[in-house]
Amino acid sequence: MCGIVGYFGKQDAVPILMNGLKRLEYRGYDSAGIAVLNSGESHSIKKSGKVSELKKLVDDSPLKGTIGIGHTRWATHGAPTDINSHPHWDQTGKIAIIHNGIIENYSVLKSVLENKGYTFKSETDTEVLVQLISDIYYADGLDFSQAVQVALNQVIGAYGIVTFCSDDPDKLVAARLGSPLVMGIGENEYFIASDASPIVDHTRNVIYLDEGEMVTISNDGHEIRSISDNTIINKTATEIEFSIEEIEKGEFPHFMLKEIHEQSKTIIDTLRGRLLIDEGTAFLGGVRDYIDRIQNANRIYITACGTSWHAGLMGKYLLEEFAGIPVHVEYASEFRYRTPIIDSQTVIIAISQSGETADTLSAIRMAKEHGALTVGICNVVGSTIARETDCGIYTHAGPEIGVASTKAFTAQVTILYLLALYFGRRNGMSQSEGTKLAQALWNLDTQIEKIMGNTDEIESIAWETMHTENFLYLGRGMNFPVALEGALKLKEISYIHAEGYPAAEMKHGPIALIDEKMPVVFLAPHDRTFDKVFSNIQEVKARKGIIITVTDKRTKDLIKISDYIIDVPSTHPRIFPILASIQLQLLAYHLAVLRGCDVDRPRNLAKSVTVE
Ligand code: G6P
Repeated sequence: MCGIVGYFGKQDAVPILMNGLKRLEYRGYDSAGIAVLNSGESHSIKKSGKVSELKKLVDDSPLKGTIGIGHTRWATHGAPTDINSHPHWDQTGKIAIIHNGIIENYSVLKSVLENKGYTFKSETDTEVLVQLISDIYYADGLDFSQAVQVALNQVIGAYGIVTFCSDDPDKLVAARLGSPLVMGIGENEYFIASDASPIVDHTRNVIYLDEGEMVTISNDGHEIRSISDNTIINKTATEIEFSIEEIEKGEFPHFMLKEIHEQSKTIIDTLRGRLLIDEGTAFLGGVRDYIDRIQNANRIYITACGTSWHAGLMGKYLLEEFAGIPVHVEYASEFRYRTPIIDSQTVIIAISQSGETADTLSAIRMAKEHGALTVGICNVVGSTIARETDCGIYTHAGPEIGVASTKAFTAQVTILYLLALYFGRRNGMSQSEGTKLAQALWNLDTQIEKIMGNTDEIESIAWETMHTENFLYLGRGMNFPVALEGALKLKEISYIHAEGYPAAEMKHGPIALIDEKMPVVFLAPHDRTFDKVFSNIQEVKARKGIIITVTDKRTKDLIKISDYIIDVPSTHPRIFPILASIQLQLLAYHLAVLRGCDVDRPRNLAKSVTVE
């Protein structure tokens, strides 16, 4: 979702902002813009469409300055037009602002300002905020950062903002409530961004702003204060953990393909130091102090959105089977607006790649208010969910840039295996069973490499099915969430309509759609569900559907009935779903590439959904 980059220093801000916007593209956006301040003069250029289009305008302009702000906008209030793009200006043309989030009381504030004679150019809530700051600054004789603070105290909603004023130059002000901001500290220069990716090119020293904090950067350095009561807050810098290579494509044509390939490594990174193969168990330092509370929970809710929700559903199957703990999996957006039964014996596991998803964050806050223990499974170190949960486990998948989640998903699932293994052993799983599962997890790297070494069948399925407009994915047990995730990947990046269903449920509706044009992907491992899935395959064959079977063993019957077979290396029966998910990621990827889609930045989607 929207991205923020800001610069304060001695260098020309323009290339720094433009590179920053490039780095932020992965979050999803539909317009972009920058504004700079140069010896008291300020100017901006903004444009709907891609950063590359903005760049053409910027390259043809004399824009220069040592203080600047840049933004990628994902439209909420108002269409993605040039006018609605950020930065927005107050009506004196002296104060510029960029904003992530939503100002909920913007219409009330706007009427008050209109009554005072203010006029508005855009449809955005952001313009209301900058006019409000201007109204306070020019009427009350405050310095600029005080005016920002007073304005923010009148605002209801969520924001990450960066702003400057040419009448109080040599100052950059940023503030956060509900939308993340990180400040990079270089040699006599500062960077502000909505995540660390635009900063890592310049410095590794960062301070994460917490909720309700604002920072004023000037030639004297930086000063962090509380927005609500203006008290000074002292914070020390931490170091960014990832490298530039991790956020670059290298030899791969797309980040998504790079990230699919990386899974042989990232899953091992997730397991490293946590998997105890000989003991047949796991060590999870991040939740160590809460083990009894988790094991004795009256219920566990797993809450998440999108792909992370699918990981959660896989977690339910694992935890219930191995650990014997009842688990409910909830869409965070639904969970937070229901009246779920939560008390101090309840455990909420929030799964989030970004650690910033607004609904997931609100769900854990709601659960905390009811006294529940909150556990975060996050990928982004220092993210809000990671910091606000009582305890948690990082997935260590490294930065994920492709909007469609791949390596973060398998890392989340891997953590859930570790939890299931640990609590399974406490619930009667034998050491040898534990060791078998642990060994199978540890062997995933070679099996994933095997998959990556032969993608011919998947590529030919993609060729044959690229013009189809529908796909069905069917699986049973833990492969039902795999079917859901396979279908989600396909629709996200190829815009083919796809649905995932429990295989047996096909008879209760989707079967009506099946004809000779409908590809149906079956997850068919040789486990206790195989015979039932095989019957479902026959039902589809009888209606002339195109059968794509994902299996760990090519039997004669499967070869005969299937139009295509996608092989999954043979493994522990419970590990099949991870490998099958990776095959389905590849299928979605190749289909999307053949259809000419923007794989890494699918239309309308955002990487990190920071609005509700
Ligand atoms: C967006 C992304 C998805 C992601 C979901 C939840 O929709 O495009 O890939 O699964 O948000 O994000 P989270 O960061 O909480 O896992």
